[in-house]
Amino acid sequence: MTKASSPHDVEKDRRRIDQLRDQLNRHSYLYYVLDNPEIPDSEYDRLYRELQQLEQKYPESITVDSPTQRVGEQPLKSFSQITHRIPMLSLDNVFSDDELRAFFKRLADRLELATELAFNAEPKLDGLAVSLIYEHGLFVQAATRGDGTTGEDVSQNVRTIHAVPLRLIGAGIPGLLEVRGEVFMPKAGFNQLNKRAIELGEKTFVNPRNAAAGSLRQLDPKITAKRQLAFYSYSTGAVEQGRLPGTQHKVLLQLRKWGLPVCPEIKLTNGVEGCIEYYRSIERQRDDLPYDIDGVVYKVNDIELQQRLGFVARAPRWAIAHKFPAQEEITSISNVDFQVGRTGAITPVARLEPVFVGGVTVSNATLHNMDEVERKDIRVGDKVYIRRAGDVIPEVVRVVPGSRDKKLKKIKLPQKCPVCGSDVERIDGEAISRCTGGLVCKAQRTEAIKHFASRKAMDIDGLGDKLVEQLVAIGMIESVVDLYRLDTGQVAALERMGQKSAENLINAIDNSREPALAKLIYALGIREVGEATARSLARSFGSLQAIIGATEDALQQIQDIGPVVAKHITHFFAQEHNQRIINELLKEIAIQSENVNTQKQMLAGRTFVITGTLPNMTRDEAKELLESAGAKVSGSVSSKTDYLVAGEKAGSKLAKAEKLGVEVIDEARLRELLTA
Ligand code: IVH
Repeated sequence: MTKASSPHDVEKDRRRIDQLRDQLNRHSYLYYVLDNPEIPDSEYDRLYRELQQLEQKYPESITVDSPTQRVGEQPLKSFSQITHRIPMLSLDNVFSDDELRAFFKRLADRLELATELAFNAEPKLDGLAVSLIYEHGLFVQAATRGDGTTGEDVSQNVRTIHAVPLRLIGAGIPGLLEVRGEVFMPKAGFNQLNKRAIELGEKTFVNPRNAAAGSLRQLDPKITAKRQLAFYSYSTGAVEQGRLPGTQHKVLLQLRKWGLPVCPEIKLTNGVEGCIEYYRSIERQRDDLPYDIDGVVYKVNDIELQQRLGFVARAPRWAIAHKFPAQEEITSISNVDFQVGRTGAITPVARLEPVFVGGVTVSNATLHNMDEVERKDIRVGDKVYIRRAGDVIPEVVRVVPGSRDKKLKKIKLPQKCPVCGSDVERIDGEAISRCTGGLVCKAQRTEAIKHFASRKAMDIDGLGDKLVEQLVAIGMIESVVDLYRLDTGQVAALERMGQKSAENLINAIDNSREPALAKLIYALGIREVGEATARSLARSFGSLQAIIGATEDALQQIQDIGPVVAKHITHFFAQEHNQRIINELLKEIAIQSENVNTQKQMLAGRTFVITGTLPNMTRDEAKELLESAGAKVSGSVSSKTDYLVAGEKAGSKLAKAEKLGVEVIDEARLRELLTA
C-alpha cells in the first residue's frame, strides 16, 4: 500500500514538476539552438523519466509545453487544410556567377543605389518549408507550405521534433508570431534510417529530403517521433502585437534568442563579391556539414528595402537562391561490367549514357555488389538516378519508378572471372564475390602493382594507373619485382613515352628502393591491412622477417588486429607465390631500419585534427609526423580533441573547434610540438 501524500509532499512534487519541465526545456535549448549542451544525454533521459513519473502521479499538472507531451496518442484520419495568413513564397534560382551578377545589377538599377548592398547569406537547406504559429509564446500550429496559399496541418508531427520549442523564452515575444523555416533530416539520421530499412528488407529513401517529407506526412505521430527530424528558422510570416528588428540578420538573431534554432552558418555579406565568397566557402564545407544543402540564399538585409522591392509572381525580388550543380541526375544504363579488384573482389559497374552530375560528366557508376544490384533490382536498359556527391565515386541510387521496360533481364554474377577465367566464389554471409585466381589473374596483379606504387605505399612518382595497365598489358611487368628490373631504354620505347619521362620514371623507381618498413607492409596489399595496421605491425615487430614469422596469436596481441586480420596476414605470407615475390623483392630493395619504438613518444595520448591547407606539408605528412610521435589523428573535432591544426581555408572544423574551445594551432606551432 502506498502511503497517502501529505499536503506538504504534494506541494513539493508540484514544484519539482515545474522545475524539471523548465530544466528539460532549457537543456533542449542549449542542445538544439546553441549547440552547446551542458549535460550528457543520459542525464537528460534521467530527468525526463523523473518528470514522466511525477506527471503520472499528478496528471492535472501536465502542461501542453511539457517535454513529455511531444508525441500525441491518436493517429489522424487525414490532414486538414490550413490557409496561410500571408502566402508562402518560393525563390528564384541562379546557377552561375554571371546569372548572379545580372540579379545584382537588376537590384541596383531598381533601387538606384550607389553603395554596396548588405545581404544576409544562408545555406539553402534541402528539406521542406513549414510555418509555425506561436500564440503568446506557445506553439499552437504547424503547416506545410503546400501550394503557397494553403498547406496541411502537421502540428501533431512537428510537435515531435525536439528542435522546435513548445514554448518560446525571453522578452518581447509578439502575441502572434509566425516562424518559417525548413524541416530537414540530418545526414546521420538519414543514414541510420536507411541502414535499418536495409536490415529489415524495407524500402529505402532516395535522399534526406524525401525522408524528411515522408516522415512529416505520417498520419501517426508516433512514427514521425521515431525519425530524426530537425528544424532551422529562416524567416517570419504574420506578426501581431509586437515588433521585429529591421534587418533579416537581426530577425534571425532575435528568433534564436527566443529559443528557435537558426542555422549556424548564416552570415552578413556585402555586394556580389561578398556573396560569391560565401558561396565558395559553403561549397567547400558542404560535405562536412551535418545536413544536406542544395545551394545558398542571399536576402537583402534591410527589411525596408525588401518592402520597396516587393515580389514578382511567386518569388521576392529581394532574395535569390544560388544553387550548386545538381548531385543527382537521371540517365540510363547501357551495360553492366564486372571489375576485378586487387583482392579479387568483383564489383558490378554500370556503364551509363554520359550525364552531367555534381559538376562533372559521369559515364560509369559503381553498383557496389550483387546484393545491392538485387535489392535495387537494377537491369541493363533501366533509367536510373545517379548520384555524385563531393569526391565520392558516383553511384546508382535507384531505378526511376515506373520506367521499367518489362523485357529487361536481371543481371547475373558471372561464374568465372571475366579477366582470368578462374572460378568466382562467394562466401556465405558476405556480400562480396571474389575471383579465386590470386596473382594468376591479370586484373588482380595490375591492381596489386597500382597499389604498390601508390602515394601512401611505395610512392613511385609518375607510375600512374594507366602506365601500370600498359606495362602489364604488354607483358613488360608481371609482378612488383619486375618494376625494379626495368631499364630506361625499354620504358622510352613505350607508346606516349619519351627519353626524359622514362628517365624520370626509372629515377622514381630507384628512389623507392629504401622504403620504411610500414610503407612496404602496406604496399604488399594484404587484405584489410591499411596504413594504420601496417604502422602498428612495423612498430611492434620491427622487421619484415619477424612479421612473416608471427603466429596468429602473436599478431592478435597488437592493437586493432583481431582474428580476421591476423588470418589474412598469416594466409598472405603462407602463399608460395607471395613468398617468392618477397624474396625476389628483397634482392632489389633495402628496408629502412625501424626505430620508431625507441623514439620518444612525446605526443602520446594527445588527439589532433588537421584541417585546411598547411603552408609546407600535406595533411598526410602532418598526420604521419604526429602519429610517429604517438599522437592520435582524428577526422572530426569533438570535445576529446586536444589540438586543431588549421591551415589556409579551414572551414567548419575550425568553427567547431572555436565553439568547443579546442586549442587551434598553425604549422609552425605543430613543428614546435613535434620537436619539443
Ligand atoms: S526563404 C520568400 N531561406 O527553398 C522567401 N528558403 O526554393 C522564401 N529554403 O520553399 C524562402 N533554405 O523550402 C528561404 N535559408 C532559406 C532556405 C529556404 C531552404 C527552401 C524553402 C523554400 C524553397 C524555395
